[in-house]
Amino acid sequence: MKSLQNRVICIVGASSGIGRATAVACAQAGMRVVIAARRLDRLEELAAELTSQGGEALAVQCDIADESATEALLEQCIARFGAVDAVLANAGYGHEGSIVDLSDEALRRIFEVNFFGTVRVTRAAVEAFRKRGQGHLLITSSCLSRFTLPYFAAYSATKAAQTHLARALRLELESEGIDVSVIHPITTRTEFFDTASDVAGMQRRGIPKHSPKLFVQTPERVAKAIVKCLRRPTSEVWTSHITRLVAGAMVAFPSFHDFCCRRELAHRNAGDPPGETTPRIEAIGENPAS
Ligand SMILES: NC(=O)c1ccc[n+]([C@@H]2O[C@H](COP(=O)([O-])OP(=O)(O)OC[C@H]3O[C@@H](n4cnc5c(N)ncnc54)[C@H](OP(=O)(O)O)[C@@H]3O)[C@@H](O)[C@H]2O)c1
Repeated sequence: MKSLQNRVICIVGASSGIGRATAVACAQAGMRVVIAARRLDRLEELAAELTSQGGEALAVQCDIADESATEALLEQCIARFGAVDAVLANAGYGHEGSIVDLSDEALRRIFEVNFFGTVRVTRAAVEAFRKRGQGHLLITSSCLSRFTLPYFAAYSATKAAQTHLARALRLELESEGIDVSVIHPITTRTEFFDTASDVAGMQRRGIPKHSPKLFVQTPERVAKAIVKCLRRPTSEVWTSHITRLVAGAMVAFPSFHDFCCRRELAHRNAGDPPGETTPRIEAIGENPAS
């Protein structure tokens, strides 16, 4: 078990949801935290909250679609705290809609943030870790990296790409003292679903009604699992054992995957008015909340 006291973590995508909850949990565990995202006001508010509770925090505005901003982030982290022990590549967004209707621009945008953004954060982190001969990279992927849902093909593809990246890197870097972990949250109560709905031009707020309640968790639950993984690095972190088993069965038996997804699709179509189920998506822009 590693002590986290005074260790430094850089969390990319910390202005809300899982990243924010992880920053709070890491600070409570004694870590010094660098919190990054595009919404600086949110980050500064969080940094002030953590500082008022006796923690140390640095807020940095960073868009992971911008390579130079990602490199500068790690430099700022080291300039402030002298080192970086762990990096959580957590920034990302989802969207709902058929890939058939998705413009190339929108598809490139989601890969730009979810996958290439993760690659940029990974390169900057590994460069910093190599200088010290140690470090821990964590990547927030999703249970949807192992199976998909109808109308989530583009998002699931970005998450599968992240998971493959992490699995390969884990082996490439282990002899250098660098750990790589991938996190597979299930449906989590965050702004994720509002953003996914906004970028698809849908009106829906919050978690879709048809999502099974059994598979919904809080961001604090994911944060707790991430802190556990920081203490004792493991290759894959699942926050639901049932989902892990179901995902394994779905990979082994594609007809089981289709059976489960057909049920999900039937609930979805029954709950959503016609026309909202397959919105035509022309472009995905910035997070409308920013
Ligand atoms: N919620 C779920 O059900 C669920 C399930 C499985 C996996 N996940 C994954 O968990 C991660 C966190 O999502 P969440 O659920 O916590 O959603 P969230 O509350 O919407 O948080 C997303 C975070 O990513 C940041 N972000 C988005 N685009 C960015 C960019 N271009 N540059 C820098 N930061 C960016 C956002 O900050 P700004 O807008 O301020 O930039 C925000 O801090 C995502 O990778 C998501 O795919 C979520």
